[in-house]
Amino acid sequence: MSVPVPRLTRRGLLSAGAAATGALAVRALAAPAPAHAATSAVPPGAAAEPFHGPHQAGIATVPQAHAVFVGLDLREGVDREAIGRMMRLLTDDARRLTEGRPALADTEPELALLPARLTVTFGFGPGLFTAAGVADRRPRQIEQLPGFSVDRLRERWSEGDLLAQICADDPLTVAHALRMIVKDARAFARVRWTQHGFRRAAGVQPPGQTQRNVMGQLDGTANPVPGTPDFDRAVWVGEGPDWLHGGTTLVLRRIRAEMETWDAADRVAKEFTIGRRLDTGAPLTGTREHDEPDFARPNALGFPVISEYAHIRRAHTADPALRIFRRVYNYDEALTSGGHADSGLVFASYQADITRQFLPVQRRLAEADLLNTWTVPIGSAVFAVPPGCDPGGWIGQGLLA
Ligand code: HEM
Repeated sequence: MSVPVPRLTRRGLLSAGAAATGALAVRALAAPAPAHAATSAVPPGAAAEPFHGPHQAGIATVPQAHAVFVGLDLREGVDREAIGRMMRLLTDDARRLTEGRPALADTEPELALLPARLTVTFGFGPGLFTAAGVADRRPRQIEQLPGFSVDRLRERWSEGDLLAQICADDPLTVAHALRMIVKDARAFARVRWTQHGFRRAAGVQPPGQTQRNVMGQLDGTANPVPGTPDFDRAVWVGEGPDWLHGGTTLVLRRIRAEMETWDAADRVAKEFTIGRRLDTGAPLTGTREHDEPDFARPNALGFPVISEYAHIRRAHTADPALRIFRRVYNYDEALTSGGHADSGLVFASYQADITRQFLPVQRRLAEADLLNTWTVPIGSAVFAVPPGCDPGGWIGQGLLA
């Protein structure tokens, strides 16, 4: 008989303990464990990620299995004071829900009791600065990206004044948090788009192992590692407007994967395209996933083993401080009537500086990347992600108070 093993991080467990001080959570956690879970008094779903801190959660957080990104547009006449009210309300919702407590006026309070490492992360799009009358405090990098030749952007997946990124290890927790946030935002903003994403289910692979995307590749190998000085320099803003210090920026791209033609390519072509093996994720010049790619090594014919047009060569940035941090989700929507897939990546890239970090990579990829044959950007949005807050504060306070 298999016994479920609680998959709690130490940090998560500590904050799950903190959440348990909420009366409802206490009741939930004190409920008798089912016989098959006799070894685990605290279900994995009770794990909570800390809400307060210098940075918003949901970025350096170990990626949860489920995500929804919702882009909202402010309603006509919603000004700085109103946006401030909205952000106080949404911060309160996020704080409670991530701690495993119902939101104020929560209509399904029981759904709040298993936070399942819920994080709610807010971002401000270019339009919010204009609506709030603080256009002079908008960092120059917070504007829609220039068009790229590979783009086939659709309005229904692009832009937006406000972002809520909601992630948890349980889809019902995500659904509930989404509902509460959107309900409370409704008087101030209307939904522009909703993008659902998923990764491997929690606990199905060892912690720290790179996930695979819908194209079958190990995705996330060469990424800054949270908790390291390189990550901190690459991701958290330390220059420019004070109100964004400790925050970051998010470029969200919806990238369709042409699965039918990708399936028609053989393994050699697929590996040549990325510059890495499909099974191990090792660079074509190495044997293990985390071997450094040797971009200079020639093959027997004198051509580079990792093609000039391979995705990892085109995307590579040598200076660790200038790398982007990819926290990517898969999407897989309803099949077409012909049975064809509608899938790809909800590609979330965090960086301190879009202009210096994201744009050069995206330009090189648009110029020449073998992967472009099978991937098409169909959505694009850019957000400033304010720093975190303390128990008495709210997200965006530095800009809007
Ligand atoms: C559907 C679209 C995409 C797919 C399927 C994809 C897939 C991959 C894969 C399999 C790797 C190698 C493993 C790894 O290091 O994660 C990789 C690396 C990388 N990708 Fe992508 N990618 C996509 C789009 C993008 C975009 C739009 C960007 C940035 C604008 C990007 C930036 C990077 C970077 C920076 C690396 C690491 C390069 C290095 O080795 O230093 N990718 N990607």
